[in-house]
Amino acid sequence: IDPVKFSETLTLWQKTHGRNDLPWQQDVTPYRVLVSELMLQQTQVATVIPYFERWLQHFPTVVALADASEDEVMAQWQGLGYYSRARNLHKAAKFVVQEMNGQLPDNIDELREVPGVGPYTAGAISAFAFNKPAALVDGNVKRLFSRYFGIEGDISSVKTNRTIWSYAEKYTPKADNRRYAQALLDLGATICTPRSPDCQRCPIKTSCNAYATNRTQVLPEKKAK
Ligand code: ADE
Repeated sequence: IDPVKFSETLTLWQKTHGRNDLPWQQDVTPYRVLVSELMLQQTQVATVIPYFERWLQHFPTVVALADASEDEVMAQWQGLGYYSRARNLHKAAKFVVQEMNGQLPDNIDELREVPGVGPYTAGAISAFAFNKPAALVDGNVKRLFSRYFGIEGDISSVKTNRTIWSYAEKYTPKADNRRYAQALLDLGATICTPRSPDCQRCPIKTSCNAYATNRTQVLPEKKAK
């Protein structure tokens, strides 16, 4: 399928069927996107929401977070788990204040300099905070693309990861990438789910490789370790 058609279809679907009322989608700022993306890395949306709201009450700006003590930061994260994310977020805030004039950059290369910002998070900040045409690949996007394009091979291998990133880059739209990126995450979370994807409601099923070949239960492939 043509990348333009692909992104247009997903973008249109997102407007009516995607999630548009999440707290970090309201008055979008780079700092709010950074906080939400770190929290969402290993935690479900429903769990994150109250933590996100409380975090913004306690640390309303990147400067406020940079100035907070480690104890205050850990106290606000208490219960979310994977505590290295909290330490990373604190480090990131200090770095942005000290080295970046308090402003998160809009491009992948500079974003990757921020402690704790990996390839996914850099893409997410560039796309969600700045609406830039950056690719982003997380577990949802991997599953969706492996099915849609019929990508075989262990989903956690370096080779498959490279293949998926290259599709992700090729299919990223030049305009309105914020909504397209949200569409990918929403489709992966609500329709193209791990166990039993709801293909009947999928906006791209007519061009999906796994759907056409009856392999939604086979893809993505997971090799036994
Ligand atoms: N997971 C990571 N980023 C997200 C977002 N913007 N919306 C929903 N889930 C997400």
